[in-house]
Amino acid sequence: MKLSHLLSSEQLSNPELLDELLESASFMEQNEKTGNQPQTLTGKIIACLFFESSTRTRLSFEAATLKLGAKVIDMQSGMESSSTVKGESLEDTIKIVSGYADCIILRHPGEGTAERAAKVSSVPIINAGDGGNQHPTQTLLDLYTIKKEVGTFENLHIAFGLDPKHSRTIKSLALVLSKYKGLRASKDLLSQLESKGAKVEEAFDLSPGLDAHIFYINRLQGERFENPKEFENNRKKLVLTADMLKNKKVRIMNPLPRIDEMETSVDDSPNALYFKQAKNGLYVRMALLHKVLNS
Ligand code: NCD
Repeated sequence: MKLSHLLSSEQLSNPELLDELLESASFMEQNEKTGNQPQTLTGKIIACLFFESSTRTRLSFEAATLKLGAKVIDMQSGMESSSTVKGESLEDTIKIVSGYADCIILRHPGEGTAERAAKVSSVPIINAGDGGNQHPTQTLLDLYTIKKEVGTFENLHIAFGLDPKHSRTIKSLALVLSKYKGLRASKDLLSQLESKGAKVEEAFDLSPGLDAHIFYINRLQGERFENPKEFENNRKKLVLTADMLKNKKVRIMNPLPRIDEMETSVDDSPNALYFKQAKNGLYVRMALLHKVLNS
């Protein structure tokens, strides 16, 4: 099936598309292991336009581009370094860059910016995070990790925390899985999940998460708190430690970066999946670039 843009994780609710992307990511991973990666994107140019900070997303997209034989043009700190400073609109920026590149990876603090970009772009737009709204490529790597490590998406008990209110990664993943137990998620997100048939429970400490199949833990999203004091008062209130995981089977996922929601002692626990999860970002982003450029 054709994929023109990836704007929202809900596109990944299509089983045909999801299976194809997960299978292709697995193929990319095997090729990386055997050192035999077909250069299917030779001659293509990928533009990474980042108007918000990033480590994993931008660098794994750039690595994915290079591994498939394409070239990267990129803009980091777009809010300060691009003509946005002079007052250029997002739409004009996208129209210009779509004349230079074959695909645009866009991260922006404004919700809905990926949709706006897709309306004016002549090349595929991949949403690499639009404010507190969506982060579908993180969802794809989360799903790839769950498929590999747990083997199924069915009947999973997933705990999400610590900041479902401001987190685009939790919103994006929960909307696809829509079967989860879970600062409080917005009423809007809870009702969207319930309307899809998910059984949702709220918890105010870490213990229910420790008995889930997966505990998807994240940092408090300081940059999206309206009141910085609320952020300071809440951080470090709940911290996952290695001791809490003794005799527990729960897998710990985290989109990263971590700040103080999880001690580094957890890293050595067999329950910790987050570094593997971040590595999987490379394979799914290779699969995605291959897909949109061959659609
Ligand atoms: C996430 C994001 O940008 O939303 N980071 C990432 O892409 N892995 C999570 C976060 O910043 O907390």
